[in-house]
Amino acid sequence: MRALITGVAGFVGSTLAERLLAGGAEVVGVDVLSDYYDPIRKRANLAAFEDRAGFSFAQDDLNAVDLNSVLDGVDVVFHQAGQPGVRKSWGRDFDVYVDANVRATQRLLEACVEHPTVSRVVYASSSSVYGEAERYPTSEDDVPRPVSPYGVTKLAAEHLCSLYAANLGVPTVSLRYFTVYGPRQRPDMAFHRFVRAAVNDEPITVYGSGDQIRDFTYVDDVVEANVLAATRPVPPGAVLNVAGGTSTSVNEVLEELTAIVGHALRVERHGKALGDVSRTGGATDRIRDTLGWAPRVSLAEGLRAEYAFFARELAGGSTGEPVGR
Ligand code: UGA
Repeated sequence: MRALITGVAGFVGSTLAERLLAGGAEVVGVDVLSDYYDPIRKRANLAAFEDRAGFSFAQDDLNAVDLNSVLDGVDVVFHQAGQPGVRKSWGRDFDVYVDANVRATQRLLEACVEHPTVSRVVYASSSSVYGEAERYPTSEDDVPRPVSPYGVTKLAAEHLCSLYAANLGVPTVSLRYFTVYGPRQRPDMAFHRFVRAAVNDEPITVYGSGDQIRDFTYVDDVVEANVLAATRPVPPGAVLNVAGGTSTSVNEVLEELTAIVGHALRVERHGKALGDVSRTGGATDRIRDTLGWAPRVSLAEGLRAEYAFFARELAGGSTGEPVGR
């Protein structure tokens, strides 16, 4: 396999790259190393595998890079790049979300039309497309009604993928990730912030009551879903939930973390964040039937692995090598 990974220096992209390289694939990585969070962290992610045989990297913007040369000889595209984060997508930053999530995806799909060697485009969509869902567990056929501008851009890009599949023969599959966590998690996300605060004995910020529920999904399970989505037969334009089956509240996560850390946590409660849904929970029947995928890593196990990773980083170790996996 010769794979293009967009967003290769990010949390999921870098974990996927390592996995593919270990399996003998060639990986072409593109990442603009944007400053949504500190690019030093992204460089550390890259450092874990950038010297491996079969890896090449271009620091570039998907809205500017020459996609014809990037796609040369590529058979699978993993489109992980995007402007992430539910809470920051309001206000004048919205243009950044449209450029990175909608325009860049359309540009990539257009380029794939010209590259029939591409046998699969796997798009990293998001559970945020559902908004306050009509039922739980939420199935892919339930009406998506995002409640954040971020969710709107992820849904728009997902629709573009399905449109390009139906009309122009681009073999897309969209994976709706449910709150991914684990080693290398983005520093704006809950578990990373909680672990960092716990290790430094700083206050943990909880938005709202903490009763909000997430179907937290461990990064290795998400990587496995990507690999299967790239290699198993999938109806073109398919949309699949990738949900960890955890259905856990933020308060329950903090209880679990207290047990791992071994001392009480300092918690400060703030107002609910705009665009933060009260619950996510994804049905996984379709991905099980289509790809044979099921989540493997429990919340207790995965949180422990993330804690070990960041505790080591904070103790002065490297961020590059994953711990606890
Ligand atoms: C996450 C990602 O940030 C999105 O990029 C992704 O698309 C989305 O998952 C998804 O699954 O669709 P979110 O669920 O908000 O979004 O993930 P976290 O940042 O880990 O937050 C989880 C919960 O913890 C939220 O209710 C949030 O308000 C809360 N939180 C977060 C806190 O209480 N305190 C914090 O410091 C951070």
